Amino acid sequence: MTSEKMRLLPRPGKSRLTRRGHSIFDIQRSARRRLPRAIFDYLEGGAEQERTLRANLVRYAGCRFQPRVLSGAGVPDLQTTVFGQRLPIPLALAPTGYTRLIHPDGEAGAARAAGRLGVPYTAATMATTSLEEVAAATPGPLWFQLYVSKEWRVTEALVARAQRAGCRALLVSVDTQVAGQRLRDQRNGLTIPPAPSPASLLGIALHPRYWRGLVTGPELTFANFEGASGPAAGGIAEITRSFEPGLSWEHLRRLRQTWTGPLLVKGPLRPSDVARAVAEGCDGVYLSNHGGRQLDRSPHPLDLLVAARQQVGGNVPLLVDSGIRTGADAVVALALGADVCLVGRPYLYGLAAGGEEGVALLIRMLRDEMERTMQLLGVSGTAELRARGAELVVLEGGAGSAMAGC
Ligand SMILES: Cc1cc2nc3c(=O)[nH]c(=O)nc-3n(C[C@H](O)[C@H](O)[C@H](O)COP(=O)(O)O)c2cc1C
Repeated sequence: MTSEKMRLLPRPGKSRLTRRGHSIFDIQRSARRRLPRAIFDYLEGGAEQERTLRANLVRYAGCRFQPRVLSGAGVPDLQTTVFGQRLPIPLALAPTGYTRLIHPDGEAGAARAAGRLGVPYTAATMATTSLEEVAAATPGPLWFQLYVSKEWRVTEALVARAQRAGCRALLVSVDTQVAGQRLRDQRNGLTIPPAPSPASLLGIALHPRYWRGLVTGPELTFANFEGASGPAAGGIAEITRSFEPGLSWEHLRRLRQTWTGPLLVKGPLRPSDVARAVAEGCDGVYLSNHGGRQLDRSPHPLDLLVAARQQVGGNVPLLVDSGIRTGADAVVALALGADVCLVGRPYLYGLAAGGEEGVALLIRMLRDEMERTMQLLGVSGTAELRARGAELVVLEGGAGSAMAGC
């Protein structure tokens, strides 16, 4: 047998997903097949008319590369350092709530997959696995995403637990004073936990494996809360009613006094708010429009990146998410000034399609794509990509239109 034919054969021990999942879009298709419609819609959907959700993907599709030929750069070095931690790739998993709704491996499986590859996992306030269990599951870096509660003592308790569990950074979401209107969830009648209805009975008939995983695993709860301190079950809107509706800079100041490690805000979308966050003591800023799930018509983080970098200078870490689907998308964000790219839906596709192994597959895929893209761009790694970024990426409509989005 020729070596070419051997290369094309599936390698023994490889799962069907690994053999067939050549790109994130294959994994997304597999996730769609495996999940009942209402659950896939929860994962995939955005707020209102989903303008921001669609624009998030289109913005990356509209970026072009200008590679350097004959640069002699060789295989790129993807490592980077953020908050004093060396990361093998400039990638982290974004916080996602209710993750055991997607697959029984849930938060612990995703965190373990990320940790095995040295990638930070961000534990979410609204997780279905407690912070301590997630910390015990992962050998890798752990960050914590905080929703500030109406009751300060609940927030303080969560922050103290995050510190004790060894979370390195605290990421405070500042774009969820109220839930965005998720029309898909409303139309599907989705509740957390899912309640029996004619639609869910049909879902059971069509996806028995999914429902078996759900009913044989531990009950789905908001595992970071006990008793009455937590959010009530129900639709997304009911659940978020326990969050502080009047979130302000004063809350951030109090958190700065409470949390001793790196503190970031997740979700500012104006250069002036980015600058203020740093002036108020933040150690970094996480540019995100929540993957289009909160304020529809929000700007794209890419359009803020250049201005944000100018505001904060070269040494303040900028994290970016919303619409990153491939390693090439991540390379665009890094070239424009991001330090770390985060993905939400992409790793949930991996989780839905193959549990912990599906997440690991997705991360490896993004790493390989980043490496290949940097090599084809002719840069020696993350550091050179950052230094030469402006000459390597062309934003559709030019930098002027990019800035206009701010
Ligand atoms: C199913 C799902 C649940 C999410 N839950 C949270 C959450 O609890 N807290 C939060 O700050 N962001 C949450 N997000 C937003 C992500 O952290 C992230 O900002 C977004 O997914 C990035 O966009 P992307 O999905 O295009 O990568 C969630 C996103 C998804 C898809």
